[in-house]
Order: sequence, then structure tokens, then C-alpha cells
Amino acid sequence: MGYFRENIDKCEGYEPGFQPQQKDVVKLNTNENPYPPSPKVLEALAGIGGEQLRRYPDPAGEAFRQAASEVNGVSADYIMCCNGGDELLTIAFRAFCDKKRAVGYPVPTYSLYPVLAKLQNCKAIEIPFDGEFNLPAKLAAAGAALTVVCNPNAPIGSFVGVGELASLADEIRGVLLIDEAYVDFAEDNCAALVKDFDNVIILRSMSKGYSLAGLRFGYAIAQPGLIEGLMKVKDSYNVDTVAITVATAAIKDQEYFKENIEKVKRARESLTEQLRALKFKVAKSYANFVLAESKDRGASEIYNKLVERNIYVRYFNLPQLSDKLRITVGTEEQNDKLISALKEILSKE
Ligand SMILES: Cc1ncc(COP(=O)(O)O)c(C=O)c1O
Repeated sequence: MGYFRENIDKCEGYEPGFQPQQKDVVKLNTNENPYPPSPKVLEALAGIGGEQLRRYPDPAGEAFRQAASEVNGVSADYIMCCNGGDELLTIAFRAFCDKKRAVGYPVPTYSLYPVLAKLQNCKAIEIPFDGEFNLPAKLAAAGAALTVVCNPNAPIGSFVGVGELASLADEIRGVLLIDEAYVDFAEDNCAALVKDFDNVIILRSMSKGYSLAGLRFGYAIAQPGLIEGLMKVKDSYNVDTVAITVATAAIKDQEYFKENIEKVKRARESLTEQLRALKFKVAKSYANFVLAESKDRGASEIYNKLVERNIYVRYFNLPQLSDKLRITVGTEEQNDKLISALKEILSKE
């Protein structure tokens, strides 16, 4: 067409997971939390009136910054609100990368990173994980202006220790963004690194642990110097009044959050065992999904047979992933339906 910048024309765009609109499906394909958000969230939503909608939102979302700062043990100027964790990724690529300033990340990982690199027209240095998904030593030497490590890593579920990421932050000259979208389901997190390192940004999402994927809310934790710079790049009103109110109510209800997380973790362990009993190879996951490798049948074949039964999981036709299925941890009932369907599919020639 010639209207677009060359890199936009060449870029295929990110392909979000399929969002079936029927209600009677078992949807285990985009890592939503299977349980509803806290009742306090729904109360807060119901309490929003016309006057709040008439006015522009608080540009920085101070109510949320305050609540998130208490949960994370930092002051409010270490927090920036975002329209989903994905917006923070876009802001970071825009802030740190260009033709001369590369992004680096280990692969396989979240498939949005290469798309953002193409949109920003920056070089993407992709360094493969080893078979055990340990942090590749070459990442530190890559010389990227922005290094992104997804931890727990999607779509694997593996976890790199906090000490290793501290060493990486120390070794690199650029910024280290640790994408902790799934960290609520892990045993540890890297938030404390922001106290020691002025080049670390932590990404958090309210979509998974707080059951708010439909709201679009995430946040950054970083030293105020980085937060101030990132604020220059964001839209003035990147988070709306409804989102600020609802996300604040959600993060304040830590009791509900912790119970919800424990339920998902228990279901994850039981799903892992049941898949292993069906001879899938399933590595330990620290997220709200598992990656299952079938030894006997092709992953894409199983995927298609599950779709015929209205069960949606995620299949990636990519190196290191094309023999595996990524399965979101559902409710016990959803997991049982999946396991029965898999038994049936695997029992047929
Ligand atoms: C690794 C990773 N990072 C960030 C996000 C962004 O999450 P959201 O924009 O819903 O907060 C996702 C969403 O699936 C993800 O998988």
C-alpha cells in the first residue's frame, strides 16, 4: 500500500489467543484465572457513579499506586499504573529501543516481544534457553539496551532464581525488565531488586492472580528515576477511572487473593499429576498453566481433537514448542473435562 512505515508493513502483528464467544466451552487457552474476582471488586464497580465517569481520571492513578506500594513494600513513587502489563511492554520498547538500541531476551518466551521489536524497528537479540530453561549466559554479554526476562516464563512455566536475575542486572549496562505477569503463582519474586538496582523494572499484571483480564490493568515497580521517564512515554490517561477503582479494590483484598492463588496452585499440582498419568511429559510449573508434551501423539492433532469437543488449549507451531500444548489451569470441573477428553482421544488410534 505504501502508507505504512516499512517495518509495520512487514510485521504480521501479534496474534492473541482465540477468544471463543460461546459460553459452553472449556476455555484453557489464554491463562485467565478460573475463579471470579473478589466480591469487594464487584462492590467497588457497582459504586461508580456518573460524576466519576464525567470527569477525566487521575492521570497517575494515585489510589492504586498507594495500595500497590503497601503490598510490595516500596513507596508509591516506585509504582506506575498501566493499561495491562502489555502496555508497560509497549512503553518500555518505545522508551529504550530504536534502530541503534537493541532488545535482548531468551527464547522461547512471550511471543509479543518480537512483535514489539518489529513495531519499534529495533534489533531483537534472541538467545535460546538450554533444555532445562536456565538463563543463557550469553544474555548478559548481548549488549542490549533493554533485556527482557519473563519469570515465570511463558509458555513454559519455568522459574529463574532471584539471585541469578540480580547478577544479570549487575552485569548488563542497559535496563532489565522482569516480566512477572505470572509471579503470583510462584514461590518468590524479584520486587526487592528495585531497591538495589536502578536499571530494573518489574512488570506485574492484574489479569491472572487477581482474575481481572477483562479490566486491563497492570503496573511497573522501579526506582523513581525510571518511573518518571516511563511516565513521559505513557498516554496521559492510560488507566481509566473504572479500572483504577476496581484494581485498587482487588489489590487491597489480599485475603481473597491469597485464597484464590492457593486454589489455583492446588489445581495445578493435581492437573500435572493427571497429565503425567496419561504419559504426558510435564515440567514443574510456577505459573497458572502447564506445558505438556505428548510422546505418542502429535500436539497439533490432540489440539484439533480437543477443539472438536469445545475444549480450547494453546498450541504454538514454534521451535521447542511444536510438540507441546500449553494448558491453563482451570477449575477442578474444567480440568476433569479436559482429562476425560484426553483419555478418549489417546485411547483411539
Ligand atoms: C508473559 C506475559 N506478560 C505480560 C502479559 C500481559 O498481561 P496483561 O496485559 O493482561 O496484564 C501476558 C498476558 O498474557 C503474558 O503472558
